[in-house]
Amino acid sequence: MTSKHPTDLPPSHTPKPSRGQTTIRAILAVGGGLTLVVLGSLAVDYGLAPSWLTGQKPVATAAAEDGSGLFTPPDESTIPDDQFGQSVRRGMAIFNDTGTNAHDFVGNDLSCSNCHLDAGRQAYSAPMWAAYPVYPKYRSKNKMVNTMEDRIKGCFTYSMNAQGSPSGGPPPYGSDVYRDLQAYFFWMSQGLPIGKKQEGAGFGKIDKPAQEPSRERGKEVFAANCAVCHGADGLGQKDRNGKQVFPPLWGPHSYNWGAGMHKVDAAAAFIQHNMPLSQPGKLSTQEAWDVAAFIDSHPRPNDPRQVGGITVEDALKKWHHSHDGFYGQTIDGVLLGTGFPAENQAAAPAAAGDSSGG
Ligand code: HEC
Ligand code: HEC
Repeated sequence: MTSKHPTDLPPSHTPKPSRGQTTIRAILAVGGGLTLVVLGSLAVDYGLAPSWLTGQKPVATAAAEDGSGLFTPPDESTIPDDQFGQSVRRGMAIFNDTGTNAHDFVGNDLSCSNCHLDAGRQAYSAPMWAAYPVYPKYRSKNKMVNTMEDRIKGCFTYSMNAQGSPSGGPPPYGSDVYRDLQAYFFWMSQGLPIGKKQEGAGFGKIDKPAQEPSRERGKEVFAANCAVCHGADGLGQKDRNGKQVFPPLWGPHSYNWGAGMHKVDAAAAFIQHNMPLSQPGKLSTQEAWDVAAFIDSHPRPNDPRQVGGITVEDALKKWHHSHDGFYGQTIDGVLLGTGFPAENQAAAPAAAGDSSGG
């Protein structure tokens, strides 16, 4: 082998904050409701968008900069210039713009990197460098050993709502989509030991709230901290070319009722560590739980396992009884879990019996 092998690469360096990110921080520091709303919508027009959109350099997490010992994945510029590197780059492109690069299998307006931030690099947003070395892994959720391919399939099925995609389901086993994504994760995790749980894996822990999470308080938290980017209606914002800049949190183009993020505890942990964007830790523990309850009590595409006449009541008993979520409850007069009439519910064969979440 004459080309550079990943393990021969120079030690990775800490990326510098990008211009766009610095500006977003500055804007957010301005404070004041009205200013934020105005500048927030300007952010879409003036390119103050996340790095996946602008192609700017990834930003190190605050935690990584303070010497906390978190793993720093290798810099993109060190992807080798050979066929392996081409697969890594294709995987990265799928991860960051899934609807374009894995078009046939995406049934909503999300990309992998919307929940696994900074192209899957950011600690406490279930980073791919922490995930790759711990698979195959037994998951009590679907009571089987999951390969990395199984796990990615789970995120396509639920988080990416593959039932509403052009093909009607997630990529079939053996698809190059899995091959390239795994090449990307493998490259990103180089140097980490196999099978060892890393600090920064998953969404991290969040303390229990002092009070029961409240949708009403969550609504206030949302208006003050989230609506500026995700929209007052939670449906996200697109730029003038129709490109999604801020992803939808609920509604027909967001994650479905089988996704991990529909669980209030998972969303609360994600939010506390990652949102508002570039200000992780801004919300108190209580606020994170309250706003998670608010988001996850809105309608979204139905659970793809709910086929063949399975009612919301059946599905509640079968899959949702132990979940910290609103599935099957009637909120503001709407029974949650019925999905949207227009969506394709016919074809989700690969999803049947699979509860791998994600
Ligand atoms: C709506 C948010 C969302 C989107 C979009 C999403 N995921 Fe996930 N993903 C999750 C959640 C939630 C988990 C579970 C996190 C945990 O275990 O704490 C997860 C877990 C994973 C894991 C396992 C992580 C681990 O540490 O075991 C992998 C791998 C993964 N996702 C890949 C993907 C890929 C690839 C895509 C795009 C095709 C994607 N995800 C899209 C929310 C999402
Ligand atoms: C400065 C803009 C901004 C603010 C403010 C903000 N977000 Fe986000 N949020 C984003 C972006 C951008 C992403 C996607 C991340 C990426 O692709 O890098 C995201 C992703 C998310 C996701 C996962 C993707 C999805 O659509 O479900 C959730 C959940 C979320 N944000 C919740 C919140 C909550 C709750 C708040 C308020 C406490 C908030 N956000 C405030 C910009 C923002």
